[in-house]
Amino acid sequence: MSQKKVFLVFVAISTVSLLLHHGGHFSWTMEAFHLGCPALRSHPAPGLKPKHTNVVFLKTHKTASTTMQNLLFRFAERNNLTVALPVQACGHQFCYPRSFTSRFVHPHTLPPNVFTSHMRFNRAELQRLMPNDTMYVTILREPGSMFESLFSYYNQYCQSFKRVPNGSLEAFLDEPWRYYRPEEKDSMYARNTLTFDLGGDKDHSSADVAYARTFVSEVERVFSLVMIAEHFDESLILLRHLLSWDMDDILYVKLNMRTPSSKRSLTPGLSRKIRAWNSLDARLYDHFNTSLWRRLSALGPACVAREVRLLRRAQERLMRSCFGGGLPLLRSAAQIKNKDLRPWQPSGKVDIVGYELPVNVSQGFSSQAHELCLKLIMPEVQYTQVLLRSQSLRYRRGYQQRTPQQPIRTVLPRHGQIHRSQPPPAGPALGTGTRSTSTSKPART
Ligand SMILES: *[C@@H]1O[C@H](CO)[C@@H](O)[C@H](O)[C@H]1NC(C)=O
Ligand SMILES: *[C@@H]1O[C@H](CO)[C@@H](O)[C@H](O)[C@H]1NC(C)=O
Ligand SMILES: *[C@@H]1O[C@H](CO)[C@@H](O)[C@H](O)[C@H]1NC(C)=O
Ligand SMILES: *[C@@H]1O[C@H](CO)[C@@H](O)[C@H](O)[C@H]1NC(C)=O
Ligand SMILES: *[C@@H]1O[C@H](CO)[C@@H](O)[C@H](O)[C@H]1NC(C)=O
Repeated sequence: MSQKKVFLVFVAISTVSLLLHHGGHFSWTMEAFHLGCPALRSHPAPGLKPKHTNVVFLKTHKTASTTMQNLLFRFAERNNLTVALPVQACGHQFCYPRSFTSRFVHPHTLPPNVFTSHMRFNRAELQRLMPNDTMYVTILREPGSMFESLFSYYNQYCQSFKRVPNGSLEAFLDEPWRYYRPEEKDSMYARNTLTFDLGGDKDHSSADVAYARTFVSEVERVFSLVMIAEHFDESLILLRHLLSWDMDDILYVKLNMRTPSSKRSLTPGLSRKIRAWNSLDARLYDHFNTSLWRRLSALGPACVAREVRLLRRAQERLMRSCFGGGLPLLRSAAQIKNKDLRPWQPSGKVDIVGYELPVNVSQGFSSQAHELCLKLIMPEVQYTQVLLRSQSLRYRRGYQQRTPQQPIRTVLPRHGQIHRSQPPPAGPALGTGTRSTSTSKPART
């Protein structure tokens, strides 16, 4: 009898301490459980299924895609995944605007789980490198505000924009053909940029409705999710359900944003002209905005609203603990420019993978917290360099001796496990039958 009591007390204590230890995660799970997303009853909710880890995110221009890239970089690092990164000759993008080929991928980053750097999409080439359970995801933005953003961002860079007197958006839109040269190498910033990034023909005649329709269906067929920048959080909820990721996996800080004062609002007339000039993009956007909302409504508006609320609350908590009380998002984004917040300037030594952190950026933090906070706001170029360095180091330490580097709750690619524990091919053949560029040299320094 008393033994039974002792046992019950023991069970009670164990339960309480378990709850204390796993409180954070437990409350997530419980909250998620109470979300009651009706459409999910038939499927296991996220968290009950292995996380999906093979993802191609097509990073489009001026669409909040840098924020997405940062999120994916962090996810990949947490789960020991391999992120495909460009060879040195390509810069930090896959030799954009050239069409992607597997030769653009650094051999130390093969075989990859994740693609998220800028490229001009080429499905066939990606398929050669990625497992066949890969999820393709991209993001679109409303063509009016997107074009205004491109026009101001590439004003001094893109020839088509540079020719416009007084840098006037109105002047450009009144007579685009006067300034635009389709054959120029930077012309993709000046017309149907999304279509171009997705691998389409940006200059296809808008009279050819069949082309536009076919292109939209092709994108629909290949991409499991097309996110919409204007509805970023809602898109992330869909992404999390698609990939069975936790709420913690989709936390972010907005990166690479302009200050509000440098944005301008568009008159309806201007917006119409932009849509007419970028009619292929406009068609894509309208189609995928509609399908986003259809999917959100299938998930249940109440469920989506609650998850968005949870996400924002978690985000606020994260901001508070990383950057102190109530620091506005915009200020922390501006701090990216601040040299003090760039602790990982290239040191010239490939073997530095411990990421020496300045101890005083946030006193009292564990090194993990420290790293998390800094990576949240680390700009694209630096983060790409950091990742390349750490992946190259891993590669050299004898990649082949590692156990398959999958997180516990990960779907192994069906043909993946054995394949993955093999070393990436050392020679010019990237395991794809193509010839490699001469880039089996050490990581950039
Ligand atoms: C450019 O600006 C100047 C002076 O601000 C003005 O005289 C001229 O008409 C403008 N040109 C165009 C094409 O708007
Ligand atoms: C996107 O679709 C939603 C739902 O139909 C609609 O309310 C919204 O206005 C659309 N956004 C744009 C920019 O067209
Ligand atoms: C942090 O450390 C660096 C050098 O280690 C020093 O220059 C800087 O002043 C310190 N900042 C603070 C806030 O203590
Ligand atoms: C990632 O790798 C490190 C070092 O090899 C290991 O300690 C950690 O448990 C791994 N994490 C996951 C999620 O596999
Ligand atoms: C993926 O590839 C493996 C073998 O490479 C095959 O057995 C499996 O059926 C494929 N899965 C799909 C969904 O095509």
